Amino acid sequence: MTDIRADRVLILDFGSQYTQLIARRIREIGTYCEIFPWDASREKITAFHAKGIVLSGGPDSVATDPAGDAIAPVLEQGVPVLGICYGMQVMAKQMGGEVEVSGQREFGYAQVQVEANSELLEGISDNEMQNGTNILDVWMSHGDRVVKLPDGFEVIGSSAGSPIAAIANERDKLFGLQFHPEVTHTRQGKQILERFVNRICGCGASWTAANVIHESVDQIRHQVGSDRVLLALSGGVDSSVVAALLSRAIGDQLTCIFVDTGLLRLHEGDQVMQTFAGYPGIDVIRVNAGQQYFDALEGIADPEQKRVIIGNLFIKIFEAEAKKISNVKWLAQGTIYPDVIESAGAATGKADLIKSHHNVAGLPEQMDLKLVEPLKELFKDEVRKIGLELGLPREIVFRHPFPGPGLGVRVLGEVKPEYVHMLQRVDDIFIHELRKHDLYDEVAQAFAVFLPVKSVGVMGDGRKYEHVVALRAVETSDFMTAHWARLPYDFLDHVSRRIINEVQGISRVTYDISGKPPATIEWE
Ligand code: XMP
Repeated sequence: MTDIRADRVLILDFGSQYTQLIARRIREIGTYCEIFPWDASREKITAFHAKGIVLSGGPDSVATDPAGDAIAPVLEQGVPVLGICYGMQVMAKQMGGEVEVSGQREFGYAQVQVEANSELLEGISDNEMQNGTNILDVWMSHGDRVVKLPDGFEVIGSSAGSPIAAIANERDKLFGLQFHPEVTHTRQGKQILERFVNRICGCGASWTAANVIHESVDQIRHQVGSDRVLLALSGGVDSSVVAALLSRAIGDQLTCIFVDTGLLRLHEGDQVMQTFAGYPGIDVIRVNAGQQYFDALEGIADPEQKRVIIGNLFIKIFEAEAKKISNVKWLAQGTIYPDVIESAGAATGKADLIKSHHNVAGLPEQMDLKLVEPLKELFKDEVRKIGLELGLPREIVFRHPFPGPGLGVRVLGEVKPEYVHMLQRVDDIFIHELRKHDLYDEVAQAFAVFLPVKSVGVMGDGRKYEHVVALRAVETSDFMTAHWARLPYDFLDHVSRRIINEVQGISRVTYDISGKPPATIEWE
Protein backbone atom coordinates (compact mmCIF):
# COMPACT_ATOMS: atom_id res chain seq x y z
CA MET A 1 0.00 0.00 0.00
CA THR A 2 1.28 3.49 -0.80
CA ASP A 3 2.18 5.62 2.17
CA ILE A 4 -0.34 8.45 2.03
CA ARG A 5 1.82 10.52 4.37
CA ALA A 6 5.05 10.16 2.44
CA ASP A 7 4.60 13.56 0.80
CA ARG A 8 4.24 15.90 3.73
CA VAL A 9 4.32 19.56 4.55
CA LEU A 10 5.08 21.01 7.95
CA ILE A 11 3.34 24.18 9.14
CA LEU A 12 4.99 26.10 11.92
CA ASP A 13 2.37 27.95 13.91
CA PHE A 14 3.13 31.47 15.05
CA GLY A 15 -0.34 31.84 16.52
CA SER A 16 -2.41 33.14 13.61
CA GLN A 17 -6.12 32.48 13.74
CA TYR A 18 -5.69 31.13 10.18
CA THR A 19 -3.07 28.45 10.86
CA GLN A 20 -5.58 25.62 10.82
CA LEU A 21 -7.02 27.03 7.63
CA ILE A 22 -3.62 26.74 5.95
CA ALA A 23 -3.50 23.09 6.99
CA ARG A 24 -7.01 22.42 5.76
CA ARG A 25 -6.25 23.99 2.38
CA ILE A 26 -3.12 21.88 1.95
CA ARG A 27 -5.02 18.73 2.86
CA GLU A 28 -7.73 19.70 0.36
CA ILE A 29 -5.02 19.77 -2.25
CA GLY A 30 -4.40 16.16 -1.25
CA THR A 31 -1.14 16.50 0.65
CA TYR A 32 -0.69 15.44 4.24
CA CYS A 33 0.48 18.17 6.60
CA GLU A 34 0.87 18.76 10.30
CA ILE A 35 1.03 21.83 12.50
CA PHE A 36 3.84 22.22 15.03
CA PRO A 37 4.22 25.15 17.41
CA TRP A 38 6.77 27.69 16.06
CA ASP A 39 9.31 26.80 18.74
CA ALA A 40 9.22 23.05 18.12
CA SER A 41 12.67 21.57 18.67
CA ARG A 42 15.16 21.19 15.83
CA GLU A 43 15.06 17.39 16.35
CA LYS A 44 11.29 17.29 16.08
CA ILE A 45 11.32 19.36 12.90
CA THR A 46 14.05 17.25 11.33
CA ALA A 47 12.38 13.98 12.29
CA PHE A 48 9.21 15.05 10.49
CA HIS A 49 10.98 14.84 7.09
CA ALA A 50 8.90 17.57 5.46
CA LYS A 51 9.10 18.15 1.73
CA GLY A 52 8.19 21.77 2.36
CA ILE A 53 7.62 24.11 5.29
CA VAL A 54 5.05 26.87 5.74
CA LEU A 55 5.49 29.59 8.33
CA SER A 56 2.08 30.83 9.47
CA GLY A 57 0.99 34.34 10.27
CA GLY A 58 0.83 35.47 13.87
CA PRO A 59 -0.58 38.13 16.14
CA ASP A 60 2.82 39.47 17.18
CA SER A 61 5.01 42.23 15.84
CA VAL A 62 8.49 41.13 14.78
CA ALA A 63 9.73 44.27 16.54
CA THR A 64 8.50 43.18 19.92
CA ASP A 65 8.79 39.44 19.42
CA PRO A 66 11.60 38.19 17.24
CA ALA A 67 10.39 34.57 17.62
CA GLY A 68 13.78 33.35 18.79
CA ASP A 69 15.76 31.93 15.91
CA ALA A 70 12.84 30.05 14.45
CA ILE A 71 14.25 30.24 10.93
CA ALA A 72 17.56 28.44 11.54
CA PRO A 73 16.20 24.90 11.99
CA VAL A 74 13.82 25.52 9.10
CA LEU A 75 16.59 26.46 6.66
CA GLU A 76 18.66 23.49 7.79
CA GLN A 77 16.06 21.15 6.28
CA GLY A 78 17.00 22.35 2.80
CA VAL A 79 13.41 22.18 1.55
CA PRO A 80 11.20 24.91 0.04
CA VAL A 81 9.75 27.40 2.53
CA LEU A 82 6.70 29.64 2.27
CA GLY A 83 6.33 32.40 4.86
CA ILE A 84 2.86 33.88 5.14
CA CYS A 85 2.36 37.39 6.62
CA TYR A 86 4.15 37.36 9.99
CA GLY A 87 5.89 34.18 8.77
CA MET A 88 7.38 36.13 5.86
CA GLN A 89 8.48 38.92 8.20
CA VAL A 90 10.19 36.47 10.55
CA MET A 91 12.01 34.91 7.61
CA ALA A 92 13.03 38.29 6.16
CA LYS A 93 14.22 39.69 9.47
CA GLN A 94 16.07 36.63 10.67
CA MET A 95 17.87 36.25 7.35
CA GLY A 96 19.22 39.81 7.45
CA GLY A 97 16.41 41.97 6.07
CA GLU A 98 14.50 44.71 7.85
CA VAL A 99 10.94 44.96 9.04
CA GLU A 100 9.38 48.33 9.77
CA VAL A 101 6.98 48.53 12.65
CA SER A 102 3.90 50.42 11.72
CA GLY A 103 0.97 51.37 13.90
CA GLN A 104 -1.19 51.45 10.79
CA ARG A 105 -2.86 48.26 9.77
CA GLU A 106 -3.49 47.28 6.19
CA PHE A 107 -6.65 45.25 6.42
CA GLY A 108 -8.88 43.89 3.69
CA TYR A 109 -8.69 43.64 -0.08
CA ALA A 110 -5.63 44.73 -1.99
CA GLN A 111 -4.32 44.34 -5.51
CA VAL A 112 -0.88 42.88 -5.94
CA GLN A 113 1.10 43.49 -9.11
CA VAL A 114 3.30 40.60 -10.03
CA GLU A 115 6.70 42.22 -10.42
CA ALA A 116 9.07 39.48 -11.52
CA ASN A 117 8.94 36.04 -12.99
CA SER A 118 8.75 33.63 -10.11
CA GLU A 119 7.96 29.95 -9.92
CA LEU A 120 5.43 30.68 -7.17
CA LEU A 121 3.22 33.16 -9.02
CA GLU A 122 4.02 32.57 -12.68
CA GLY A 123 0.90 32.43 -14.81
CA ILE A 124 -1.46 32.94 -11.87
CA SER A 125 -3.58 36.08 -12.06
CA ASP A 126 -6.99 37.61 -11.64
CA ASN A 127 -6.45 40.44 -14.09
CA GLU A 128 -3.91 41.89 -16.42
CA MET A 129 -2.80 45.51 -16.74
CA GLN A 130 -2.50 47.08 -20.17
CA ASN A 131 1.23 46.50 -20.20
CA GLY A 132 0.66 42.80 -19.56
CA THR A 133 1.51 42.82 -15.82
CA ASN A 134 -0.48 40.24 -13.86
CA ILE A 135 -2.70 41.43 -11.02
CA LEU A 136 -3.84 39.35 -8.04
CA ASP A 137 -6.82 40.23 -5.83
CA VAL A 138 -5.65 39.37 -2.35
CA TRP A 139 -6.59 39.77 1.27
CA MET A 140 -4.21 41.51 3.69
CA SER A 141 -4.17 41.82 7.46
CA HIS A 142 -0.96 43.23 8.87
CA GLY A 143 0.67 46.21 10.56
CA ASP A 144 4.42 45.71 10.18
CA ARG A 145 6.02 45.36 6.77
CA VAL A 146 9.25 44.22 5.20
CA VAL A 147 11.29 47.25 4.00
CA LYS A 148 14.63 45.66 3.16
CA LEU A 149 15.19 42.25 1.64
CA PRO A 150 17.75 39.73 2.85
CA ASP A 151 20.53 38.86 0.39
CA GLY A 152 19.46 36.56 -2.41
CA PHE A 153 15.82 37.68 -2.39
CA GLU A 154 13.89 39.77 -4.89
CA VAL A 155 10.46 41.39 -4.84
CA ILE A 156 7.98 39.36 -6.87
CA GLY A 157 4.83 41.28 -5.95
CA SER A 158 3.86 44.70 -4.66
CA SER A 159 0.73 46.53 -3.62
CA ALA A 160 -0.04 50.17 -2.86
CA GLY A 161 0.17 49.56 0.90
CA SER A 162 3.00 47.01 0.74
CA PRO A 163 5.69 47.72 -1.85
CA ILE A 164 7.18 44.41 -0.73
CA ALA A 165 4.11 42.18 -0.83
CA ALA A 166 5.70 39.00 -2.16
CA ILE A 167 9.34 37.89 -2.14
CA ALA A 168 11.39 35.03 -3.45
CA ASN A 169 14.81 33.51 -3.35
CA GLU A 170 14.36 31.24 -6.35
CA ARG A 171 17.67 29.47 -5.97
CA ASP A 172 16.95 28.22 -2.45
CA LYS A 173 13.19 28.02 -3.05
CA LEU A 174 12.31 30.41 -0.23
CA PHE A 175 9.14 32.45 -0.68
CA GLY A 176 7.18 35.01 1.31
CA LEU A 177 3.69 36.44 0.91
CA GLN A 178 2.50 39.43 2.91
CA PHE A 179 -1.10 38.49 2.03
CA HIS A 180 -3.06 35.41 3.07
CA PRO A 181 -3.41 32.75 0.35
CA GLU A 182 -5.34 30.47 2.74
CA VAL A 183 -8.45 32.67 2.95
CA THR A 184 -11.01 32.47 0.17
CA HIS A 185 -10.98 36.26 -0.24
CA THR A 186 -7.61 35.78 -1.96
CA ARG A 187 -9.14 34.49 -5.15
CA GLN A 188 -6.12 32.60 -6.48
CA GLY A 189 -5.05 31.52 -2.99
CA LYS A 190 -5.70 27.84 -3.56
CA GLN A 191 -3.79 27.93 -6.85
CA ILE A 192 -0.84 29.60 -5.17
CA LEU A 193 -0.78 27.01 -2.38
CA GLU A 194 -1.13 24.24 -4.96
CA ARG A 195 1.78 25.68 -6.87
CA PHE A 196 3.91 25.66 -3.74
CA VAL A 197 2.88 22.23 -2.52
CA ASN A 198 2.64 20.31 -5.81
CA ARG A 199 5.18 21.90 -8.11
CA ILE A 200 7.71 23.53 -5.83
CA CYS A 201 7.75 20.94 -3.02
CA GLY A 202 6.92 18.06 -5.37
CA CYS A 203 4.13 16.65 -3.21
CA GLY A 204 1.43 14.46 -4.73
CA ALA A 205 -2.26 14.13 -3.95
CA SER A 206 -2.73 10.82 -2.17
CA TRP A 207 -4.44 12.30 0.89
CA THR A 208 -8.05 11.56 -0.15
CA ALA A 209 -11.08 10.40 1.84
CA ALA A 210 -10.98 6.94 0.25
CA ASN A 211 -7.26 6.50 0.94
CA VAL A 212 -7.58 7.79 4.49
CA ILE A 213 -10.37 5.28 5.20
CA HIS A 214 -8.39 2.46 3.63
CA GLU A 215 -5.36 3.28 5.72
CA SER A 216 -7.31 3.84 8.96
CA VAL A 217 -9.04 0.52 8.59
CA ASP A 218 -5.68 -1.20 8.30
CA GLN A 219 -4.29 0.71 11.22
CA ILE A 220 -7.28 0.03 13.48
CA ARG A 221 -7.11 -3.70 12.70
CA HIS A 222 -3.44 -3.72 13.45
CA GLN A 223 -3.90 -1.75 16.68
CA VAL A 224 -6.78 -3.67 18.28
CA GLY A 225 -6.25 -7.14 16.84
CA SER A 226 -9.11 -9.37 17.91
CA ASP A 227 -9.95 -7.39 21.06
CA ARG A 228 -13.36 -5.94 21.78
CA VAL A 229 -13.81 -2.16 21.44
CA LEU A 230 -16.33 0.01 23.21
CA LEU A 231 -17.64 3.32 21.87
CA ALA A 232 -19.79 5.96 23.52
CA LEU A 233 -22.07 6.81 20.61
CA SER A 234 -23.75 10.18 20.94
CA GLY A 235 -25.23 10.61 17.48
CA GLY A 236 -22.97 13.60 16.82
CA VAL A 237 -20.76 13.75 13.73
CA ASP A 238 -17.52 12.57 15.31
CA SER A 239 -18.76 9.58 17.26
CA SER A 240 -20.96 8.54 14.33
CA VAL A 241 -18.01 8.56 11.95
CA VAL A 242 -15.93 6.59 14.44
CA ALA A 243 -18.72 4.03 14.64
CA ALA A 244 -18.98 3.71 10.86
CA LEU A 245 -15.21 3.46 10.49
CA LEU A 246 -14.87 0.84 13.22
CA SER A 247 -17.72 -1.11 11.70
CA ARG A 248 -15.76 -1.27 8.46
CA ALA A 249 -12.55 -2.20 10.27
CA ILE A 250 -13.59 -4.66 12.94
CA GLY A 251 -17.32 -5.32 12.45
CA ASP A 252 -18.76 -7.26 15.37
CA GLN A 253 -15.83 -6.62 17.69
CA LEU A 254 -17.44 -3.22 18.25
CA THR A 255 -20.06 -2.47 20.87
CA CYS A 256 -21.59 1.00 21.05
CA ILE A 257 -23.29 2.32 24.11
CA PHE A 258 -25.78 5.03 23.37
CA VAL A 259 -27.05 6.76 26.49
CA ASP A 260 -30.36 8.42 25.76
CA THR A 261 -30.35 11.08 28.44
CA GLY A 262 -33.84 12.30 27.68
CA LEU A 263 -32.15 15.62 26.96
CA LEU A 264 -31.70 15.00 23.24
CA ARG A 265 -33.59 16.57 20.34
CA LEU A 266 -37.05 15.29 19.45
CA HIS A 267 -36.90 11.61 18.24
CA GLU A 268 -33.11 11.77 18.13
CA GLY A 269 -32.66 8.52 20.02
CA ASP A 270 -34.75 6.61 17.48
CA GLN A 271 -32.90 8.21 14.60
CA VAL A 272 -29.54 7.16 15.95
CA MET A 273 -30.74 3.58 16.34
CA GLN A 274 -32.17 3.57 12.83
CA THR A 275 -29.01 4.96 11.26
CA PHE A 276 -26.78 2.29 12.72
CA ALA A 277 -29.17 -0.58 12.20
CA GLY A 278 -27.76 -0.70 8.67
CA TYR A 279 -24.11 -1.01 9.62
CA PRO A 280 -22.64 -4.50 9.54
CA GLY A 281 -21.66 -5.93 12.85
CA ILE A 282 -22.40 -2.90 14.99
CA ASP A 283 -24.11 -3.69 18.22
CA VAL A 284 -25.71 -0.55 19.65
CA ILE A 285 -26.94 -0.78 23.22
CA ARG A 286 -29.45 1.96 23.93
CA VAL A 287 -29.85 2.94 27.56
CA ASN A 288 -33.00 4.92 28.19
CA ALA A 289 -31.87 7.02 31.10
CA GLY A 290 -34.24 9.99 30.84
CA GLN A 291 -35.91 9.41 34.20
CA GLN A 292 -32.56 9.00 35.93
CA TYR A 293 -31.43 12.35 34.53
CA PHE A 294 -34.62 14.15 35.50
CA ASP A 295 -34.36 12.74 39.03
CA ALA A 296 -30.73 13.79 39.35
CA LEU A 297 -31.44 17.29 38.09
CA GLU A 298 -34.48 17.95 40.24
CA GLY A 299 -34.19 21.23 42.11
CA ILE A 300 -30.85 22.16 40.52
CA ALA A 301 -30.74 25.55 38.77
CA ASP A 302 -27.04 26.37 38.61
CA PRO A 303 -25.62 25.75 35.10
CA GLU A 304 -22.23 24.45 36.17
CA GLN A 305 -23.78 22.17 38.74
CA LYS A 306 -26.12 20.83 36.07
CA ARG A 307 -23.16 20.17 33.75
CA VAL A 308 -21.30 18.25 36.48
CA ILE A 309 -24.36 16.17 37.37
CA ILE A 310 -25.06 15.34 33.73
CA GLY A 311 -21.40 14.46 33.06
CA ASN A 312 -21.01 12.29 36.14
CA LEU A 313 -24.24 10.45 35.56
CA PHE A 314 -23.12 9.71 32.02
CA ILE A 315 -19.92 8.13 33.30
CA LYS A 316 -21.80 6.11 35.90
CA ILE A 317 -24.31 4.74 33.39
CA PHE A 318 -21.68 4.07 30.77
CA GLU A 319 -19.48 2.19 33.21
CA ALA A 320 -22.35 0.11 34.50
CA GLU A 321 -23.24 -0.93 30.95
CA ALA A 322 -19.63 -1.55 30.03
CA LYS A 323 -19.22 -3.93 32.98
CA LYS A 324 -21.86 -6.18 31.47
CA ILE A 325 -19.74 -6.69 28.39
CA SER A 326 -16.87 -9.04 28.83
CA ASN A 327 -13.41 -8.84 27.46
CA VAL A 328 -13.36 -5.17 26.50
CA LYS A 329 -9.83 -3.81 26.04
CA TRP A 330 -10.31 -0.60 24.08
CA LEU A 331 -12.33 2.56 24.27
CA ALA A 332 -12.83 4.39 20.97
CA GLN A 333 -13.03 8.17 21.03
CA GLY A 334 -13.84 10.83 18.47
CA THR A 335 -10.93 13.13 19.26
CA ILE A 336 -10.13 15.21 16.16
CA TYR A 337 -6.98 17.04 15.08
CA PRO A 338 -7.96 20.51 16.34
CA ASP A 339 -8.30 19.02 19.87
CA VAL A 340 -4.74 17.74 19.56
CA ILE A 341 -3.40 21.05 18.23
CA GLU A 342 -5.18 22.95 20.97
CA SER A 343 -3.38 21.08 23.69
CA ALA A 344 -0.03 21.48 21.92
CA GLY A 345 -0.64 25.16 21.11
CA ALA A 346 -1.61 25.88 24.68
CA ALA A 347 1.91 24.90 25.67
CA THR A 348 3.51 27.66 23.57
CA GLY A 349 1.15 30.28 24.93
CA LYS A 350 0.99 31.87 21.47
CA ALA A 351 -2.53 30.99 20.45
CA ASP A 352 -5.34 31.95 22.78
CA LEU A 353 -6.53 28.99 24.73
CA ILE A 354 -9.87 27.82 23.51
CA LYS A 355 -12.43 26.28 25.78
CA SER A 356 -12.78 22.65 24.84
CA HIS A 357 -15.59 20.35 25.79
CA HIS A 358 -14.91 16.70 26.13
CA ASN A 359 -18.08 14.85 26.77
CA VAL A 360 -16.46 11.62 27.77
CA ALA A 361 -13.54 13.05 29.70
CA GLY A 362 -12.63 10.91 32.62
CA LEU A 363 -13.83 7.66 31.08
CA PRO A 364 -10.52 6.12 30.02
CA GLU A 365 -8.71 6.95 33.27
CA GLN A 366 -11.40 5.38 35.38
CA MET A 367 -11.97 2.34 33.23
CA ASP A 368 -8.44 1.23 32.61
CA LEU A 369 -9.00 0.87 28.87
CA LYS A 370 -6.60 1.61 26.06
CA LEU A 371 -7.62 4.35 23.66
CA VAL A 372 -8.28 4.07 19.96
CA GLU A 373 -8.74 7.49 18.34
CA PRO A 374 -9.05 7.02 14.59
CA LEU A 375 -9.94 10.67 13.82
CA LYS A 376 -7.05 12.12 15.74
CA GLU A 377 -5.32 13.39 12.60
CA LEU A 378 -8.37 14.80 10.87
CA PHE A 379 -10.02 18.19 10.61
CA LYS A 380 -13.77 18.42 10.93
CA ASP A 381 -14.27 18.86 7.18
CA GLU A 382 -12.21 15.72 6.58
CA VAL A 383 -14.24 13.82 9.18
CA ARG A 384 -17.36 14.86 7.25
CA LYS A 385 -15.94 13.70 3.91
CA ILE A 386 -15.06 10.35 5.44
CA GLY A 387 -18.52 10.07 6.96
CA LEU A 388 -20.13 10.58 3.56
CA GLU A 389 -17.75 8.10 1.96
CA LEU A 390 -18.73 5.56 4.64
CA GLY A 391 -22.39 6.04 3.74
CA LEU A 392 -23.63 8.08 6.69
CA PRO A 393 -26.66 10.23 5.85
CA ARG A 394 -26.01 13.91 5.08
CA GLU A 395 -28.36 14.80 7.89
CA ILE A 396 -25.92 13.36 10.43
CA VAL A 397 -22.73 14.37 8.67
CA PHE A 398 -23.71 18.03 8.36
CA ARG A 399 -25.63 18.31 11.58
CA HIS A 400 -25.12 21.39 13.73
CA PRO A 401 -23.09 20.82 16.89
CA PHE A 402 -25.02 19.85 19.98
CA PRO A 403 -23.62 20.33 23.49
CA GLY A 404 -22.82 17.24 25.53
CA PRO A 405 -25.27 18.22 28.31
CA GLY A 406 -27.89 18.64 25.61
CA LEU A 407 -31.16 20.35 26.43
CA GLY A 408 -30.04 20.29 30.05
CA VAL A 409 -28.30 23.60 29.37
CA ARG A 410 -30.99 24.89 27.03
CA VAL A 411 -33.73 24.73 29.61
CA LEU A 412 -32.50 27.60 31.74
CA GLY A 413 -32.56 27.02 35.46
CA GLU A 414 -34.24 23.89 36.79
CA VAL A 415 -34.75 21.14 34.22
CA LYS A 416 -38.25 19.69 34.37
CA PRO A 417 -39.50 17.00 32.00
CA GLU A 418 -42.42 19.12 30.81
CA TYR A 419 -40.05 21.98 29.96
CA VAL A 420 -37.80 19.63 28.01
CA HIS A 421 -40.74 18.23 26.08
CA MET A 422 -41.96 21.71 25.15
CA LEU A 423 -38.47 22.72 24.12
CA GLN A 424 -38.01 19.61 21.98
CA ARG A 425 -41.12 20.48 20.00
CA VAL A 426 -40.15 24.13 19.64
CA ASP A 427 -36.65 23.18 18.51
CA ASP A 428 -38.04 20.63 16.07
CA ILE A 429 -40.30 23.24 14.42
CA PHE A 430 -37.42 25.71 14.13
CA ILE A 431 -34.99 23.17 12.65
CA HIS A 432 -37.58 21.66 10.35
CA GLU A 433 -38.45 25.08 8.94
CA LEU A 434 -34.79 26.00 8.55
CA ARG A 435 -34.27 22.87 6.47
CA LYS A 436 -37.43 23.45 4.48
CA HIS A 437 -36.37 27.00 3.62
CA ASP A 438 -32.79 25.97 2.73
CA LEU A 439 -31.45 27.99 5.63
CA TYR A 440 -30.09 25.13 7.76
CA ASP A 441 -26.73 24.94 6.01
CA GLU A 442 -26.48 28.73 5.89
CA VAL A 443 -26.10 28.93 9.66
CA ALA A 444 -23.48 27.18 11.79
CA GLN A 445 -25.78 26.40 14.68
CA ALA A 446 -29.44 26.97 15.43
CA PHE A 447 -31.54 25.98 18.41
CA ALA A 448 -34.21 27.04 20.85
CA VAL A 449 -33.87 27.94 24.52
CA PHE A 450 -36.54 27.56 27.17
CA LEU A 451 -36.73 30.55 29.52
CA PRO A 452 -37.88 30.06 33.09
CA VAL A 453 -40.21 33.05 32.97
CA LYS A 454 -43.83 33.50 32.15
CA SER A 455 -45.38 36.22 30.11
CA VAL A 456 -48.90 37.41 29.49
CA GLY A 457 -50.62 36.88 26.18
CA VAL A 458 -54.08 36.73 24.63
CA MET A 459 -55.26 33.74 22.69
CA GLY A 460 -58.77 33.70 21.35
CA ASP A 461 -60.84 35.41 24.00
CA GLY A 462 -58.70 34.39 26.92
CA ARG A 463 -55.76 35.86 28.72
CA LYS A 464 -52.81 33.49 29.04
CA TYR A 465 -49.87 33.49 31.33
CA GLU A 466 -47.39 31.12 29.76
CA HIS A 467 -43.79 30.38 28.90
CA VAL A 468 -41.29 32.15 26.67
CA VAL A 469 -38.75 30.61 24.32
CA ALA A 470 -35.83 32.19 22.53
CA LEU A 471 -34.57 31.15 19.11
CA ARG A 472 -30.87 31.44 18.38
CA ALA A 473 -29.05 31.04 15.08
CA VAL A 474 -25.41 31.97 14.56
CA GLU A 475 -22.90 32.27 11.77
CA THR A 476 -19.37 31.24 12.64
CA SER A 477 -16.62 29.02 11.38
CA ASP A 478 -14.69 28.48 14.59
CA PHE A 479 -17.38 28.87 17.29
CA MET A 480 -15.03 31.19 19.17
CA THR A 481 -16.62 34.30 17.72
CA ALA A 482 -20.03 34.38 16.11
CA HIS A 483 -22.57 36.74 14.54
CA TRP A 484 -26.27 36.26 15.04
CA ALA A 485 -27.78 35.11 11.78
CA ARG A 486 -29.87 37.66 9.90
CA LEU A 487 -32.73 35.25 9.24
CA PRO A 488 -35.51 36.78 7.10
CA TYR A 489 -38.31 38.45 9.09
CA ASP A 490 -40.98 36.53 7.18
CA PHE A 491 -39.29 33.28 8.06
CA LEU A 492 -39.08 34.20 11.77
CA ASP A 493 -42.69 35.28 11.68
CA HIS A 494 -43.74 31.94 10.22
CA VAL A 495 -41.73 29.97 12.79
CA SER A 496 -43.04 32.04 15.66
CA ARG A 497 -46.67 31.50 14.59
CA ARG A 498 -46.17 27.77 14.24
CA ILE A 499 -44.60 27.52 17.69
CA ILE A 500 -47.31 29.48 19.47
CA ASN A 501 -50.10 27.67 17.65
CA GLU A 502 -48.68 24.18 17.98
CA VAL A 503 -46.80 24.02 21.27
CA GLN A 504 -49.08 24.28 24.21
CA GLY A 505 -47.64 26.25 27.09
CA ILE A 506 -45.66 28.72 24.96
CA SER A 507 -47.12 32.17 24.39
CA ARG A 508 -44.12 34.21 23.32
CA VAL A 509 -41.15 33.70 21.00
CA THR A 510 -38.07 35.91 20.97
CA TYR A 511 -35.02 35.96 18.69
CA ASP A 512 -31.55 36.33 20.19
CA ILE A 513 -29.58 39.17 18.55
CA SER A 514 -26.39 38.95 20.62
CA GLY A 515 -23.00 38.33 19.08
CA LYS A 516 -20.16 36.31 20.61
CA PRO A 517 -18.42 38.00 22.28
CA PRO A 518 -19.81 39.30 24.52
CA ALA A 519 -22.54 36.65 24.64
CA THR A 520 -21.71 32.95 24.31
CA ILE A 521 -23.53 30.79 21.77
CA GLU A 522 -25.37 28.76 24.40
CA TRP A 523 -27.29 30.61 27.07
CA GLU A 524 -25.83 28.63 29.96
P1 XMP B 1 -20.35 28.70 23.78
O1 XMP B 1 -21.69 28.67 24.44
O2 XMP B 1 -19.21 28.46 24.71
O3 XMP B 1 -20.36 27.48 22.76
O4 XMP B 1 -20.17 29.95 22.94
C1 XMP B 1 -19.39 27.20 21.81
C2 XMP B 1 -19.73 25.85 21.19
O5 XMP B 1 -19.57 24.83 22.17
C3 XMP B 1 -20.81 24.15 22.39
N1 XMP B 1 -20.92 23.90 23.84
C4 XMP B 1 -20.74 22.71 24.43
N2 XMP B 1 -20.42 21.51 23.91
N3 XMP B 1 -20.44 20.56 26.07
C5 XMP B 1 -20.29 20.44 24.74
O6 XMP B 1 -20.03 19.34 24.27
C6 XMP B 1 -20.76 21.73 26.68
O7 XMP B 1 -20.90 21.80 27.90
C7 XMP B 1 -20.91 22.87 25.80
N4 XMP B 1 -21.20 24.18 26.02
C8 XMP B 1 -21.20 24.79 24.80
C9 XMP B 1 -21.88 25.08 21.87
O8 XMP B 1 -23.05 24.37 21.49
C10 XMP B 1 -21.18 25.75 20.71
O9 XMP B 1 -21.20 24.94 19.56
